[in-house]
Amino acid sequence: MTDSMPHGTGSTTQAGIPAVSDRNSLTTGPDGAIVLHDHHLVETLQHFNRMNVPERRPHAKGSGAFGTFEVTEDVSKWTKADFLQPGKKTDMLARFSTVAGELGSPDTWRDVRGFALKFYTEEGNFDLVGNNTPIFFVRDPMKFPHFIRSQKRLPDSGLRDGTMQWDFWTQNPESAHQVTYLMGPRGLPKTWRNMNGYGSHTFMWVNEAGEKFWVKWHFISNQGVEFLSNEEAEALAGSDAEAHRRDLFDAIERGEHPSWDLYVQVIPYEEGKTYRFNPFDVTKTISKKDYPRHKVGTMTLNRNPKNFFAEIEQAGFSPANVVPGIGMSPDRMLLGRNFAYADAQRYRIGTNFQQLPVNRPKNEVHTYNFEGNMWYHDSGDRRTYVPNSFGDSWSDETGPVDNGWEDDGALVRESQALRADDGDFVQAGILVREVFSDAERDGFVETVAGALDGVQEPVLSNAFQYWKNVDATIGERIEKAVKDAAQDNSVPGMGVDEDK
Ligand code: HEM
Repeated sequence: MTDSMPHGTGSTTQAGIPAVSDRNSLTTGPDGAIVLHDHHLVETLQHFNRMNVPERRPHAKGSGAFGTFEVTEDVSKWTKADFLQPGKKTDMLARFSTVAGELGSPDTWRDVRGFALKFYTEEGNFDLVGNNTPIFFVRDPMKFPHFIRSQKRLPDSGLRDGTMQWDFWTQNPESAHQVTYLMGPRGLPKTWRNMNGYGSHTFMWVNEAGEKFWVKWHFISNQGVEFLSNEEAEALAGSDAEAHRRDLFDAIERGEHPSWDLYVQVIPYEEGKTYRFNPFDVTKTISKKDYPRHKVGTMTLNRNPKNFFAEIEQAGFSPANVVPGIGMSPDRMLLGRNFAYADAQRYRIGTNFQQLPVNRPKNEVHTYNFEGNMWYHDSGDRRTYVPNSFGDSWSDETGPVDNGWEDDGALVRESQALRADDGDFVQAGILVREVFSDAERDGFVETVAGALDGVQEPVLSNAFQYWKNVDATIGERIEKAVKDAAQDNSVPGMGVDEDK
């Protein structure tokens, strides 16, 4: 093949003009200088420099797939949401992720997993941006950036740091429930297909009659919930950093379409005011004994992205995207998140990220927001203001909102009020004593002790006390395991001092 042969029909510049060569720049003779007016070369280099958008902070590393959500039961007595009515099928997108690691980080580091869902309903996009855990580390959005910075990297070395992580957790004891969950078996899912997903916060549902309910969303894996051991996860982190991304993609390519059944716990509106745990505190779960799960339907993932960047990297999920029949709750984390996501996406992807195909609702958008960077959806000569004298449609509901609640009085700066059984360590203790098996408790002690390796004082002692507050026995076992390991390491032939 000679240098002058076109391949297929050739390529074009971004302006659609035939490009002369995709491999030889324009030069002054074969050994001469490149000329600046080689527009195709200049455009190629310029565009390459702009290929990346900022990674998500947090939840940078992830992947996803498309599918459908089908309602199999009748939950109309609790919600009027159109896509949750009996028999409805809705197209959807799921993205799974780790929280703390950056774009290239291993899928199998111990971490919470993101479980973000976008439902393209006929009443607009509904996003449920949850995790694989029913709880979270903190209960006030003010703490969130501090939390994420403590799990990321040190300012000087750029390294992640156990002392910083444990310092944050022990300074914020409401983290105990989530940290217990994270250090237990569920902190290392075998694959994304083998984990459950939770909306985590309490949301509101409203039915046609205007009755309100508090709802927890639970997506239960039909592949079974399975875990990795620390050793398996560590080996995979070295041998296949993309193990979970690969597993999901390959399973769908093979025609094995993973599915999850959606269940909800429903708390009558008035009972939310007095339930023994504060249902608007995301560090707490609602007992299934008090409020059992009710099945709603099934989500099935059956289509891989064709273009990872366009369909996954540019996907923007936001807890603010709730459709009629669903609402927020007084959970202040949820309310904080309501602001944060679309703001992040305007920075990360661009002002008009909602116009990109993956984010665009299937129904018609009739917004009075116009223009801005990369404004793509030409709204023609539509009038840009309302009300006007020409009959353009606009919204004007007044009075109490149907998915609202009563507020609590004067403006204050205080943490949420405690309920009868509340406390930072109560549910963490129950998890350790009543939910973990003996083997899981042993594994938990080993994992926590391993994670505390190298943590500096006074944080280390604070961590021992933190675990004793969760459960006296488990705290003592953790302290002993850390101290024994430190002693072993100082005995010749038993670890790091071996070569000295
Ligand atoms: C006030 C607390 C929180 C704030 C301010 C916050 C903020 C953010 C931001 C800015 C992003 C990146 C969004 C993007 O660039 O597209 C993100 C991603 C994410 N967050 Fe949060 N977050 C909070 C708490 C939570 C909680 C409690 C959960 C789970 C229950 C959660 C789940 C997720 C998930 C799953 C993603 C990844 C979404 C995706 O796949 O694109 N976050 N968060």
